[in-house]
Amino acid sequence: MGDIIDQEKIPFVALADGEKIPCIGMGTFGSDRYGPAEVSAAAAGAIRLGYRLFDCASVYGNEDLIGKVFEDAIAGGTVRREDLFITSKVWNDMHGKGDVLLSLAKTLRDLRLEYADAYFIHWPFPNYHAPGCDGDARNPDSVPFSAERFLQTWREMERIYRMGLARHICMSNMTVSKLEAVLPSCVIKPSLIEMEIHPSFRQDELFNYCQKQKIRVIGYCPIGSPNRPDRDKAPGDVVDTELPEVAAIARAHNIHPALVCIKWQVQRGSIPIPFSVHEKNYAANLKAVTTDPLSTAEMELLKKAERNCRLVKGQVFLWPGAKGWEDLWN
Ligand SMILES: NC(=O)c1ccc[n+]([C@@H]2O[C@H](COP(=O)([O-])OP(=O)(O)OC[C@H]3O[C@@H](n4cnc5c(N)ncnc54)[C@H](OP(=O)(O)O)[C@@H]3O)[C@@H](O)[C@H]2O)c1
Repeated sequence: MGDIIDQEKIPFVALADGEKIPCIGMGTFGSDRYGPAEVSAAAAGAIRLGYRLFDCASVYGNEDLIGKVFEDAIAGGTVRREDLFITSKVWNDMHGKGDVLLSLAKTLRDLRLEYADAYFIHWPFPNYHAPGCDGDARNPDSVPFSAERFLQTWREMERIYRMGLARHICMSNMTVSKLEAVLPSCVIKPSLIEMEIHPSFRQDELFNYCQKQKIRVIGYCPIGSPNRPDRDKAPGDVVDTELPEVAAIARAHNIHPALVCIKWQVQRGSIPIPFSVHEKNYAANLKAVTTDPLSTAEMELLKKAERNCRLVKGQVFLWPGAKGWEDLWN
């Protein structure tokens, strides 16, 4: 059984408004491999060990069971509601036309919460594909990014913020050029941007841009998502835990390379949200942020692990006429 971690030992990240949130959270996407029962059981174990930040989304298809876990943990006195930081995300088929409010209402009912701590626009496109579809699947109704259309959805996000249904409104899977196109028109700025980050994909430009804007960063796929869905695997993808720089540091600390990825991300200043249904792993991930930090030299060495290896390419969201997945990220 994993160690229960004292909350005082878990470093925090300060949002622009001064609120302090944990420097690590738990991912809840079962990657088509783990069903809602396994993921929610892991969430229950994680709360018990000391996780307080949970990265949820309606499209993960498990918010109802995870909500039962939150309800039980609060009712049983394991945690107070105000000590949890629960995020969720509006899926691509619920942009605009009042659907953000509908989507959040369903999420809150499922999660058994009165408010979300942070609510994200999951992807900056209204391009729908069925969960679990093949990587070659395309929806002929898909469209390229439009700042105007995105801002219509953002106005709905601002409305749910004003209604007190989300304490922070946030964006995910953005790029610098998309942020430059929309941020000046945001009445309420995003508190957090969620993006893919692991040693072989640092996203320095976007990360630094967010830091300058005082927008904090949540890093997904922090371990390089070794069990991601097959549709998200491509020839040439790097395995972060096998990179020589990561492996050498893991050997020096006598820890699993996954923990090097977690420590690196926290020390660099973004919030990793590793996923696991195995207590041994999620316990180790939480403990890793409280002990045995990487040295300055090791942090420097890990800069050499950059391979510009984006794992979640998003090709299923491409529109007719797009050349390739890179078009989603310009
Ligand atoms: N915003 C977005 O568009 C977006 C996109 C993708 C993901 N996400 C979020 O990010 C979360 C994390 O991403 P991810 O799940 O794709 O990738 P990840 O966290 O990088 O990798 C998860 C895998 O790493 C393994 N693992 C975890 N801890 C380990 C440890 N200490 N030692 C060895 N192996 C370990 C787990 O294996 P076992 O299962 O065998 O333990 C698990 O399958 C998701 O769950 C989701 O919440 C968001």
